[in-house]
Amino acid sequence: MARKVILDVDPGVDDALAVCMALFDPRLEVVAVTAVAGNVSAEQATRNVQTIIEQIDPPRLPRIGCAREPDNGRSADGRHIFGADGMGNADFEVAELHHIHPAEKVICDEVRAAPDSVTILALGPLTNIARALDRDPELASIIGRIVIRGGAVKVGGNVTAAAEFNMFCDPESAHRVFRSPMTKTLVPLDVTNPIIMTYAQLDELPPDTTPAGRLLRRMLPHCFRSHRAEFGLEGMRIHEPVALAALLHPELFQAESMFGDVETRGELTMGATVLDRRTGRKRERPNMEVLTEVDVVGVMDCILRGLRGAVPDSK
Ligand code: RIB
Repeated sequence: MARKVILDVDPGVDDALAVCMALFDPRLEVVAVTAVAGNVSAEQATRNVQTIIEQIDPPRLPRIGCAREPDNGRSADGRHIFGADGMGNADFEVAELHHIHPAEKVICDEVRAAPDSVTILALGPLTNIARALDRDPELASIIGRIVIRGGAVKVGGNVTAAAEFNMFCDPESAHRVFRSPMTKTLVPLDVTNPIIMTYAQLDELPPDTTPAGRLLRRMLPHCFRSHRAEFGLEGMRIHEPVALAALLHPELFQAESMFGDVETRGELTMGATVLDRRTGRKRERPNMEVLTEVDVVGVMDCILRGLRGAVPDSK
């Protein structure tokens, strides 16, 4: 039986890659794709979720949830990497959708409809998840599992020296989610930074005669250029699909149980994930599984296979 999944995303081209993979994967039943502000504004993130789904025309249509800005605002975005629209400035048209429910309502509905069996793949700031917990405090005990793409353990941050982007955008929500009693897996920069898609690998994507192939090929070139300009990299970091790979192929990672929290206030450390790696009795009781090592070749393979499978006749 396919695993029920909610994708909570802030597209962002790397989020779009993960959505393409997931919506065509027969092992998953994506019940909803909810938008969250992060790489782009709440309004643009909602629009991008609609665009991706419209463009790739998946075999089953998920519910969509719309984003609202985090309560304390955001002091970062990803437009310098993903373009002004977050989608590589690819200028897609999207129909105006009306009556989209707020993301947190969609999350609560879907988890309530299938208690203990929904996995949330949180690929953006944790705003929607914290709001869902506020809306329905019992939710934490019936979410099957949450896989959180964010944080950094032994490596530096990617917004500040200490903070990773998704945590930095809404540290209060991240703190709330980390402290909640859900079953959590953290996919930090330590295991996503090494996963880099090369320009040559564009040839392995579906052809541009397919809906997903067209979408990917219109978005990605911008990101290769921005990665070269920003980081001097001849390739693109694709953080978000790594979290999906972790869900589908946990054997490609090493994990440790740890206690984790998020710094909400520090002048230099706001948004930093603090993971207790001490040994011995003083150690805080672990509250999450943290991925610490990755099989780089295996994960890249899994991502390329997933993207190649994002074609209508692959089922
Ligand atoms: O830290 C990685 C995050 O920053 C991802 O969410 C990606 O979309 C980037 O903007």
